[in-house]
Amino acid sequence: MVDIVLGAFYGDEGKGKVIDYISKDAKYSVRFSGGNNAGHSIEVDGKKFAFHLIPSGILNKDTKAILGNGVVIDPKVLLEEIDNLKKNGYDCSNLYISDKAHVIFPYHIELDKLEEELRGERKIGTTKKGIGPVYEDKFQRSGIRMEDLISDKFKDYLKENIFIKNRILNAFSHKGVDYEKILKDYLEYSEKLKPYVCDTTKMLHKAIDNNEYIVCEGAQATLLDIDFGTYPYVTSSNPTIGGVSTGTGIGSRYIDEVYGVIKAYSSRVGEGPYVTELNNEIGDKIRELGHEYGTTTGRPRRCGWLDLVALNYAIKVNGITSIALNHLDTVGKLDNIKLCTKYLVDGKEEEYFSSNLVFLRKAKPIYEEFPGNFDIRGLKDYDKLPKNAKDYVERIEDLTKTRVSIIGTGPGREDVIVRNKKVLSLKK
Ligand code: GDP
Ligand code: IMO
Ligand code: MG
Repeated sequence: MVDIVLGAFYGDEGKGKVIDYISKDAKYSVRFSGGNNAGHSIEVDGKKFAFHLIPSGILNKDTKAILGNGVVIDPKVLLEEIDNLKKNGYDCSNLYISDKAHVIFPYHIELDKLEEELRGERKIGTTKKGIGPVYEDKFQRSGIRMEDLISDKFKDYLKENIFIKNRILNAFSHKGVDYEKILKDYLEYSEKLKPYVCDTTKMLHKAIDNNEYIVCEGAQATLLDIDFGTYPYVTSSNPTIGGVSTGTGIGSRYIDEVYGVIKAYSSRVGEGPYVTELNNEIGDKIRELGHEYGTTTGRPRRCGWLDLVALNYAIKVNGITSIALNHLDTVGKLDNIKLCTKYLVDGKEEEYFSSNLVFLRKAKPIYEEFPGNFDIRGLKDYDKLPKNAKDYVERIEDLTKTRVSIIGTGPGREDVIVRNKKVLSLKK
């Protein structure tokens, strides 16, 4: 049985917390796309962990944590995460890295910065972690994979790559990167990471045959998808459902539940359109109440209301069967909550989302309004939720025809209300 947890909006919906929770029962927790542009935070017994690469399921000692072939790996960042976990009593003997995952090098990071500079006003607001350039190399077929990093051929591959990258960097008055230094550092990383590298697809195929429970962890989110997001203001991979198969080797017929993670409001970091954005004191208030500052870059996140036009798009793109709704506690601290149910485009009401930028720039949100002022901290039972909270949740279910099966009541591991997993009405 394979369940998927992925982001429905622009990232940072609280996927890490949901994955950590669901992985309690999982034999495998698998990242399938993206790299250390992601930042997934989990709070366990008051202690905060922020994972950029390591699957959030690693904290469950009986769960094998896999970095799938679709992930791009900065070995320095990965080793720092491993060290940090070891300091906290997790030995990481349950970590496995795909031999096919691509490796990020310093020239990818330099190129990411340079490309952003050259874009000027049309910059994307990337995390500057080298994500775009490493995926460019992957698809251009010149990338270096984990299996190459640990092979005898590594030196030659690195030399060839740096030869080309330095010419590009030099053309823009960048002095280029130092081959000897990178070689030395990466040979060290290679030694340390070698024990974790294997054919993870084969592992997962055996797990499927043994009927073991697998949870796949999305990074980024639907509206940042290279195909279905607000291109070019997106990341360079497929964080949507298709990325699960191409990023792990698990075929779609094995997938059961698809959890779409959302917040009871929304946020975006980086550039690009955002229909329900609040450029006012309510947006600022949500940012403070929800502590909306980037886990990876520390940037203040743009904040706004929940957008059901976009959520219904994410449900269709991913086949979401179940919604995980975080930060219900946060909107409870507001007097009023707004929910975007339709857009107004060229004077006409529109229920369907399009990632077309011209459409999104014209779209104005149409809202329904709900009273806030509820305190749900510590509640475990859905029936005990105050009426205002239930009304908001149930309206989301009505308008999406999808069950809200997990509700976040705070940042901690146990701050969740779990309802039965049954999907309401995709089948209606
Ligand atoms: P991810 O990238 O989707 O894993 O999300 P991030 O970790 O980047 O951002 C989510 C933030 O919200 C983190 O600071 C979490 O600790 C926090 N969080 C998650 N769920 C809840 C919730 O239900 N209530 C509150 N108050 N905070 C939450
Ligand atoms: P998690 O997994 C929020 C955004 C960046 C930028 C765009 C492209 O924590 O939800 P990139 O560095 O990928 O080339 O940047 O994508 N972005 C994220 N925003 N959460 C993330 O991950 C993100 N990963 C990338 O801010 O707008
Ligand atoms: Mg995040």
